[in-house]
Amino acid sequence: MSSSSGYAVEAVDVKKTYGGVSALKGVDIRIPQGSIYGLIGPNGAGKSTLFDILCGITKPTSGTVNVMGMDVAALPAYEVARRGVGRTFQRTAIFGHSTVYENLLYASYGRMRHSAVHRLLRLPVWREDMNTFADKARDVLAVCGLTELRDQLASALAYGIQRRLAVAIMLMNDPKIIFLDEPVAGMNEVETADFIQLLRAISGRRTIVIVEHDMAAIGALCDEVMVMVDGRQLVTDAPERALKHPDVVAAYLGASDDELV
Ligand SMILES: Nc1ncnc2c1ncn2[C@@H]1O[C@H](COP(=O)(O)OP(=O)(O)OP(=O)(O)O)[C@@H](O)[C@H]1O
Ligand SMILES: [Mg+2]
Repeated sequence: MSSSSGYAVEAVDVKKTYGGVSALKGVDIRIPQGSIYGLIGPNGAGKSTLFDILCGITKPTSGTVNVMGMDVAALPAYEVARRGVGRTFQRTAIFGHSTVYENLLYASYGRMRHSAVHRLLRLPVWREDMNTFADKARDVLAVCGLTELRDQLASALAYGIQRRLAVAIMLMNDPKIIFLDEPVAGMNEVETADFIQLLRAISGRRTIVIVEHDMAAIGALCDEVMVMVDGRQLVTDAPERALKHPDVVAAYLGASDDELV
């Protein structure tokens, strides 16, 4: 299912208040299908709030939110996920005591048609499910650079590789749009470079939306960024132009943290 407008995400006048706090003060956002789109801005700008609203986790106080043709504000979060919206959390559920391959298998159970009885009796429906899974897992392991590690315990993997496994888990369900919350936070330089390469490899026709403080990663990845400040959109442009915009430079200089451009 996709939006007929050519936009993967189209949200209009989105507001969100928490008690007396106005986290979003009327944001419009349009994300072209197939693009890699960044949400950036100083601490407290409303990035995570908007991000959670776009992937259906948080409901807006007002405004309309259309993602891949779905009114996500009206659907339960699990339904949004089932219909092709993928998301990795800072700590995506990885089963540490299971292997890489088993983690991919668990991620696929929701799409399988066989029951426990079918499996015990080794019925054709079970065999078909397992063949489909094996083909898919082979492709996903290859694109994520995990083929050699498929039988390793997830807990034994280096941090950067665990993050790649989180992406692999998500890819098993063929998301049409992927939301990544600070994907390279905590990674070293090599892990970051590898991860950027992975995101480029899986982008293609998929739309990718990223919240990220690492401006080098944003510059290397994104076609377009929206800079947010104080619950509003400040500038939307290609990263190289947006990051040089005087209003954006001023907003970051005014911020009390170390995320200068
Ligand atoms: N659950 C909540 N309850 C109350 N206030 C909230 C809640 N979530 C966010 N806020 C407030 O909304 C505003 C925007 O927060 P948000 O987390 O969206 O910012 P952010 O841009 O993601 O910041 P950071 O870069 O620090 O992650 C802040 O003032 C924050 O304190
Ligand atoms: Mg945040």
